[in-house]
Amino acid sequence: MSDDFSALIDDDDKQPPVRKIPPIQTGTPPARMGGIIQQADPVEPEWEPPSDDEWIPPAEDQWEPPHDEKKEMQEPLKRESSGEVRTPPGRRTDQRIKLGIEGLDEMLGGGLVKNSVTGIIGTYGTGKTTFAINFIFEGLKLGETCILISLDERAEMLKESIRRRGYDLDAYLDKTFFLIKLDPTDFTLAVNSIKNDIPDLIRETKASRVVIDPISLFEGLLPDEASRRLEMFKFVERMRDEDCTFVMTSETDTQIPYASKYGLVEYLVDCVVLLRYVRTSDLSGTHLAVEVVKMRRSQHSREIKPYEIQPDDVVVYSEASVF
Ligand SMILES: Nc1ncnc2c1ncn2[C@@H]1O[C@H](COP(=O)(O)OP(=O)(O)OP(=O)(O)O)[C@@H](O)[C@H]1O
Ligand SMILES: [Mg+2]
Repeated sequence: MSDDFSALIDDDDKQPPVRKIPPIQTGTPPARMGGIIQQADPVEPEWEPPSDDEWIPPAEDQWEPPHDEKKEMQEPLKRESSGEVRTPPGRRTDQRIKLGIEGLDEMLGGGLVKNSVTGIIGTYGTGKTTFAINFIFEGLKLGETCILISLDERAEMLKESIRRRGYDLDAYLDKTFFLIKLDPTDFTLAVNSIKNDIPDLIRETKASRVVIDPISLFEGLLPDEASRRLEMFKFVERMRDEDCTFVMTSETDTQIPYASKYGLVEYLVDCVVLLRYVRTSDLSGTHLAVEVVKMRRSQHSREIKPYEIQPDDVVVYSEASVF
């Protein structure tokens, strides 16, 4: 690892390391700069009919057209507003990356699609960080290299929670696991690190799983709606170019418990996992509930399932129902 990156890895909260900040990159291709949603170039190759061996037609009883997307079936190559080319509905033999939460991996059709970008959206205390840690340690146990970038929790507190959950942190820390604490109040450092250093670090370490927790703090650093849209679009596009499966968590909107804080994440990512509280009908308590709201190019469950965060595990009750 180069000195540039080791300076980012926060081993000791008390002594902020001297960090080398690369200049903000300029010269982004104009097509990506303008019209974030409507005019962006397609970032993936045009869809071509898959060969027989990579296309598994869905069994009739396994797939139902989404109620509001029947039109999409008739026009499978119509562009989405994000500029992406839609693939026909059905299942493809995409490689899956497990989150390490059994019931949720099942809801995702086997896990996250390899090298996709996922948003885990939830209000405070719903388990965003816990889900992120699970995802990271599932990869570490498989021998992968993983990066967790925390914008809210102190490195020492995070390490403590990881150890408390029973993970052998010291076996991986600074070897195949890189824990980076960014201070969101240091605007220049946080923005430049996220925009420039992180993609370089991913390449240098060959990390296959990367988490930013929560991305909404980065979004909040940006001065206005227009720059948030532009920077988030550019950042997510940049992460798509990396050979890694990327998860970003987001706080929810204060009024809408199923929308991300700035209403961007859910449109930019490939997959959205929503975590929320559901009150019991007699108002005697709350349950936690998880839902896969969107998963591009993949079949997934649309059910809402209860889950519990236990001291050393996250359990999704796939047989139970919330309502
Ligand atoms: N070791 C543990 N044992 C039992 N429950 C735990 C444990 N760790 C976390 N939890 C539960 O998970 C909740 C918080 O989880 P987590 O920090 O992952 O949520 P979060 O969505 O990241 O919260 P925030 O928005 O505040 O960052 C706690 O409120 C608690 O209910
Ligand atoms: Mg958290």
